[in-house]
Amino acid sequence: MAAKMQGLVDWVDERFPLTSSWKAHLAEYYAPKNFNFWYFFGSLALLVLVNQIVTGIFLTMQYKPDASLNSSGVPVAFASVEYIMRDVPWGWLIRYMHSTGASAFFIVVYLHMFRGLLYGSHRKPRELVWIFGMLIFLCLMAEAFFGYLLPWGQMSFWGAQVIVNMFSAIPFIGPDLSLWLRGDFVVGDATLNRFFAFHVIAIPLVLLGLVVAHVIALHEVGSNNPDGIEIKKHKDNKGIPLDGIPFHPYYTVKDIVGVVVFLIVFSAVIFFMPEGGGYFLESNNFIQANPLQTPPHIAPVWYFTPYYSVLRSITYPLFGLEAKFWGVLGMGAAVVIFFFLPWLDRSPVKSIRYKGPIFKTALGLFVTVFLILGYLGMQPPTPARLMLSQACAVIYFAFFLLMPVYSKLDKCRPEPERVTG
Ligand code: HEM
Repeated sequence: MAAKMQGLVDWVDERFPLTSSWKAHLAEYYAPKNFNFWYFFGSLALLVLVNQIVTGIFLTMQYKPDASLNSSGVPVAFASVEYIMRDVPWGWLIRYMHSTGASAFFIVVYLHMFRGLLYGSHRKPRELVWIFGMLIFLCLMAEAFFGYLLPWGQMSFWGAQVIVNMFSAIPFIGPDLSLWLRGDFVVGDATLNRFFAFHVIAIPLVLLGLVVAHVIALHEVGSNNPDGIEIKKHKDNKGIPLDGIPFHPYYTVKDIVGVVVFLIVFSAVIFFMPEGGGYFLESNNFIQANPLQTPPHIAPVWYFTPYYSVLRSITYPLFGLEAKFWGVLGMGAAVVIFFFLPWLDRSPVKSIRYKGPIFKTALGLFVTVFLILGYLGMQPPTPARLMLSQACAVIYFAFFLLMPVYSKLDKCRPEPERVTG
């Protein structure tokens, strides 16, 4: 039997690089031996990606992207989601796995990005790993935005209305651009159909391609680690890094621990609080879209709120351009600025373990203002909240823009030669 199997593998190997790929990416991919908690989130992001794709396929079998009203006066799209929730066997579970999965995706990816900041994983030679990661992040944001319109609830409708209208702030082409994006003068059936196309095929295709590129780029240069030093500097006489261990079986098994813990927490949320207290699914979205009635308070889902706060914090027109334009620009800049991190950080060491007090304070402050901006973005604006969001937005950008200066001035400790554990 074993000989037959080997024969089959040999047959495939002559036609497809099966064994060599298995070796290059798993059995003989040498990863640093000191991966810690923060290294669970890459494999978890892959898991959530698979969850979103599989549950999404099943949702698509019952969902209808149609804004027209059925015989009961309910939009067909909204009614199809209700049908999934009430009448399709296990439909409620599939839908909650997908909607909770969206929030889980952002939680996992934010923690994954934070690990990069902690250990300098974005720095040379992993700049492209980071850039592919940031492109993934942009796709994720687009994917979440397009998906949110599909249930055709009040928040879906008004959220899309607000976001598409933002484009009208761009000088000259803005109004025509937002009309073109909507395909109508208001968010309508044409908008729903094109958002559906983007959500189920266009963006997922790009996302999958980027994830493959992300992992290939990482495997080309090798993983970073909590010490932020390159294990390839010290190799044995067979060329194997002295501080490396084969990814399979060591990290495949370790990652299963992360997967089990994640699935316990994920199931607990799905079964006991699937709406996540209104953060994962907003209560207003259980009301069908009504173009004639604006909800009293429109806020995006939690994962967008830090950037939304930056948008709202800019209230002054400048150079003859309205405040809305600068707000949209500020919001875009708050995301795009992450792309430049590999070149903004000039510290002689990569890992936070060896960085000095200035960088540690700056990172702590950044995380704090990111969370405050996230909180403020969910609240209705008041003058005090506006001032706080302006102060936080200044600190947010200062973290990046001053980094070339303070990361150089900082008193770092020397990095060790070999990983410390
Ligand atoms: C669908 C989303 C994503 C998936 C599936 C994914 C997957 C992975 C995997 C499997 C790894 C190797 C394991 C690990 O180091 O944890 C990794 C590493 C990495 N990812 Fe991602 N990633 C995603 C998004 C992102 C984003 C948004 C960024 C940042 C902008 C990012 C930046 C990185 C970096 C810098 C590394 C190397 C880390 C190191 O070696 O220390 N990734 N990613």
